[in-house]
Amino acid sequence: MIREDLASRWYNAIFSRHSVRAYDGSSVPSGMQDEIGQLLDGFSPMCKGARAVLLEGGSSEILAGFMGVFGKISGADLVLALIGDASYPNHEVAVGFLGEGIILHATSLGLGTCWVSGTYSRKAVEARIELGESEKVMAVSPIGFAEKPGNEMEENSMKAPGGLHKRKPLESLIRGLPMKDWPPGFRNILEAARLAPSAVNRQPWRFTVKSDRILVSAARFELLPMAARKLDCGIAMLHLEAASGASGIHGEWSLLDTPPGVAEYIIRHRLRRRDS
Ligand SMILES: Cc1cc2nc3c(=O)[nH]c(=O)nc-3n(C[C@H](O)[C@H](O)[C@H](O)COP(=O)(O)O)c2cc1C
Repeated sequence: MIREDLASRWYNAIFSRHSVRAYDGSSVPSGMQDEIGQLLDGFSPMCKGARAVLLEGGSSEILAGFMGVFGKISGADLVLALIGDASYPNHEVAVGFLGEGIILHATSLGLGTCWVSGTYSRKAVEARIELGESEKVMAVSPIGFAEKPGNEMEENSMKAPGGLHKRKPLESLIRGLPMKDWPPGFRNILEAARLAPSAVNRQPWRFTVKSDRILVSAARFELLPMAARKLDCGIAMLHLEAASGASGIHGEWSLLDTPPGVAEYIIRHRLRRRDS
């Protein structure tokens, strides 16, 4: 379970986080690096099978040679490398969960981030870290101060009229109980999950609402392998648990090994009632 103070902090950060690709080149103060450093080995049992390393220097070699949909990523002080251990069957979910916790923490410190699983040099990252036999780097994120804080969202939505920031309406993502019968707090929790980032903004998650639990499953996308969808689901699950914890609703994850089912969030108890 995520600590309640972190859950509240990360829940607030969900609403200000967006992908930042242009950084101002300044250094991240050591106090902030230390705070991020405390999360790298995980903060909940859901992180098992994943770890992260914070790299100083080398961001231009790792990121700048690649042109993504939005252009190059430049000027970041640090690179967060997210590593999965393939000996854990759900390591992709763990990488998504761990990475998004760290990313929302960085957001809460006023730092910019951007999940990157395509437009980076894995070779350049792997040359800087020691990997175990079954470990692989699955994604990275630049971390630093945005060149133009708050502006990137507008720039990007102009460049991408298809709306790489837009999210699907909640109604299209849910199954199960009708909204009017949802238990208190479920609407806030699912709204937070809906806002999660995903590769190419595909939002490959679906939620089945029951009276005491939420089932997270991966939507079908022909060109998107299950591993990539599981990573995205792990990110949405972090949002879901942060919102739940921030609302005083405590639950537990149960991982599923029956695709497209990914995991169930089972409500255990409510500390206080705060509704949608
Ligand atoms: C797993 C993952 C991989 C991503 N890979 C890339 C990438 O390779 N290059 C890139 O520029 N953006 C990448 N993104 C960023 C997404 O395009 C972005 O999160 C999405 O469009 C939603 O926009 P937002 O983060 O501003 O809300 C990735 C995001 C996720 C979650």
